[in-house]
Amino acid sequence: MSQATNQSWGGRFSEPTDAFVARFTASVTFDQRLARQDIQGSIAHATMLARVGVLTDDERDAIINGLNEIQGEIERGEFNWSVPLEDVHMNIEARLTEKIGITGKKLHTGRSRNDQVATDIRLFMRDEIDVIEVELKRLREGMIELADREAETIMPGFTHLQTAQPVTFGHHILAWQEMLARDHERLLDCRKRVNVMPLGAAALAGTTYPIDRHVTAELLGFDRPSENSLDAVSDRDFAIEFTSFASILLMHLSRMSEELVLWTSAQFNFIDLPDRFCTGSSIMPQKKNPDVPELVRGKTGRVYGHLMSLLTLMKSQPLAYNKDNQEDKEPLFDAVDTVRDCLKAFADMVPAIEPKKVSMYEAARRGFSTATDLADYLVRKGVAFRDAHEIVGQSVAYGLKTEKDLSEMSLDELKQFSATIEQDVFEVLTLEGSVAARNHIGGTAPNQVRAAAQRAREALSALKAGA
Ligand code: ARG
Repeated sequence: MSQATNQSWGGRFSEPTDAFVARFTASVTFDQRLARQDIQGSIAHATMLARVGVLTDDERDAIINGLNEIQGEIERGEFNWSVPLEDVHMNIEARLTEKIGITGKKLHTGRSRNDQVATDIRLFMRDEIDVIEVELKRLREGMIELADREAETIMPGFTHLQTAQPVTFGHHILAWQEMLARDHERLLDCRKRVNVMPLGAAALAGTTYPIDRHVTAELLGFDRPSENSLDAVSDRDFAIEFTSFASILLMHLSRMSEELVLWTSAQFNFIDLPDRFCTGSSIMPQKKNPDVPELVRGKTGRVYGHLMSLLTLMKSQPLAYNKDNQEDKEPLFDAVDTVRDCLKAFADMVPAIEPKKVSMYEAARRGFSTATDLADYLVRKGVAFRDAHEIVGQSVAYGLKTEKDLSEMSLDELKQFSATIEQDVFEVLTLEGSVAARNHIGGTAPNQVRAAAQRAREALSALKAGA
C-alpha cells in the first residue's frame, strides 16, 4: 500500500488525519472487491454526463479509456491499493487523475461516494445473485433427477426420528427440492429490489446538474432509478433480504446435511457418498467422514451471524448515509461466498448419492412401519379408528415379543387381535403396498413421485432470472 494522502476532502482540514484513524476508517482492504462494479458505474455516469452536456465527448472518452486501463491493471494485480486513499472509489479516481490529468477530477461531477457505493453494492449483489442462481438451479435439477431415478426405492419415513411409515426415497428427495424451490423464489424476489439504481441521489439530496437518471439506469441494466435520494443512499435492506434468503437456505441445507451425515453412518447405512466428498481420519484407518455435509451444516452459523450483524447495523440509523454503512460489506461478501460454495458442494454431491436400497428396505421392515396401514385396513372393514389403533397396538406388542414384523405373522396370529382380518391384509402390510396406496397429489406413491418430479422440472424451467 502506498502512502499517498487523501486529498479528495483535504481542503477544509488544518491537520492530516491521524495515522491510526486513517487505517481505522479505511475500507479499501475489503471494498476493493467492488472495483469492477465501481468502474462499470463510473463509465455509465461519465457516458450520461456527456449525453447531457456536462462533459465533452473527448473528456468522456479519456475517462472511459483511463478506467478501462485501470480495470486491466487491477485484473493483472498491478494496481497499487492505498490505505490513505480510504476506499475503492478514491483509489480508482486518484489513479484515473494520475493517468489522464485534470479530466479525471471531473468524473465525480454530480455524484457522491454515497450514491456511488450504494450503486456498486447493488451491481455486485445482482452479479452474485445470478451466479448463485446458476448453482441453485443445478442443485434442484440434480435432486429432481435423483428423485425420479429412485421413485420406487423404499425407505423408512420418520417422525421424532422414530420409524413412522414407509416412504419412497424419491419422495424424500423431492421434499428437499420443495424447500429449495421456495428459496429460489425468495432469491429472485430479492433480486427485484436489488435491481434499483441509487446513482443520482448524490450525497443525500440529489444534484444541481441536469443529470438523466433513466439513461444511467438503462446503461447499467437497472430496472429503474430509485424514487427517493435520502432512502437510496442510506438503506441496506436489500442486503438484509439477501442474508435472510441465505439464512433460510442454509437452514435447509443444514437439515439435508444432518440427514446425509446420519444416513452415511454405520447405524443407518442408507447411502454411500463417493470418496471424493469425504475425508479420512489420521488416527482411525477405518473412518470415512462426511466432511462436506458437516461443513455446510457448520457454515450455517456464520450466515445467521451476518444476518444479525446487518439487522443490527441498520437499526436506529437516522437518515441519510452514515459511516456505519461501511460495515455492510464484509458480512455481505462472506454470506455471498458461503452460499455460493455450499450450493456448489451440494450440487456436485447430490447426483452422486448412492442409495443402499436393501439396507433402507430392511430398515423400513424392522420398524412396524405398516402399522398405520393395518389400522386403515381395519377401518375399511368397519372397525372404528380408535379400536383399530388399539388392535394394531396389541399386534405390534406381539411382534416385538416374537421378533416378527406385521407382514411376517400368519393370518391366524393376526386374527388373535381381530376376527375381521382376512387374507387380503397382506396386500396392505407389504412396504410396496403401503407406499402405492398413498396415491394422491403430494403422496409418496412411486407414480406420484414421478409426476411430481415432472412438475418440478417444468416449474424450474419456467423460472427466469430477474423475472
Ligand atoms: N467507503 C464508504 C462506504 O463503504 C464509501 C462512502 C463513504 N462516504 C462518505 N461520505 N464517507 O460506505
